[in-house]
Amino acid sequence: MEKVHDKTFKPYINSSRIIERTKELADKINADYEGREPVFLGILNGSFIFAGELFKHINLNCSITFVKLASYKGTTSTGNIVTAIGLEEILTNKDVIIIEDIVDTGQTMHHFLKTLKEREAASASICTLLRKPDAVQFDLPIDYIGFDIPDKFVVGYGLDYDGYGRNIDGIYQLED
Ligand code: IMP
Ligand code: MG
Repeated sequence: MEKVHDKTFKPYINSSRIIERTKELADKINADYEGREPVFLGILNGSFIFAGELFKHINLNCSITFVKLASYKGTTSTGNIVTAIGLEEILTNKDVIIIEDIVDTGQTMHHFLKTLKEREAASASICTLLRKPDAVQFDLPIDYIGFDIPDKFVVGYGLDYDGYGRNIDGIYQLED
C-alpha cells in the first residue's frame, strides 16, 4: 500500500511489467517508423519516467523534446485552450510521436493535436502508457497504448496525486 496525502493506493501494475510492455511498444514504433526520423514529444510532468524508459529502446535516428501543457477554459466559442509551454522545436513536415502518461477524457490530447496541426507537423501519433477507455470522449490517433485501465484514479511511475506520488515505482490504484 502507498499513502499519498490523505489517500491510500494499492499495487496495480508493477514496474517490471511496465518495462516489459514499454519494450514491446518501442519495438512496434521502431518497425512502424523504420527509415524515418520522428520527433518524440514528451508531455510534462507526468510522462517523464515513461518517456525515458521508452526512449532507451528506440533505435531510430531521432530526437526527443518535452513540453508542458497548460489548459484553461477559453472565453471564445472554441472552448478549451491548451497552451504548449517550451515548444520551440520546428515541427514543420516532421512526424511527431507524442508521449503521454495517461489519456483520460482525451480532452488535453484533442486540443494539443490542433496545436501540432498549426505547426504543420507532417503526422502525429500518440503513445500513452495508460488509457481509460470508459472515460475517453474524443476520437484520437492513439497508436501505442501500454495498458487499458478502469476509470479509477492511479498514481506512480510519473503520475501524481496533487503533485506527489510520481516517484512510486509502479502504478498504484486508489482504494475504494
Ligand atoms: P484528459 O485531458 O482528461 O485526457 O486528462 C489527461 C491528464 O489528466 C493526464 O495527462 C494526467 O495528467 C491527468 N490524469 C488523468 N487521470 C489521471 C489519474 O488517474 N492519475 C493521475 N493523473 C491523471
Ligand atoms: Mg499529463
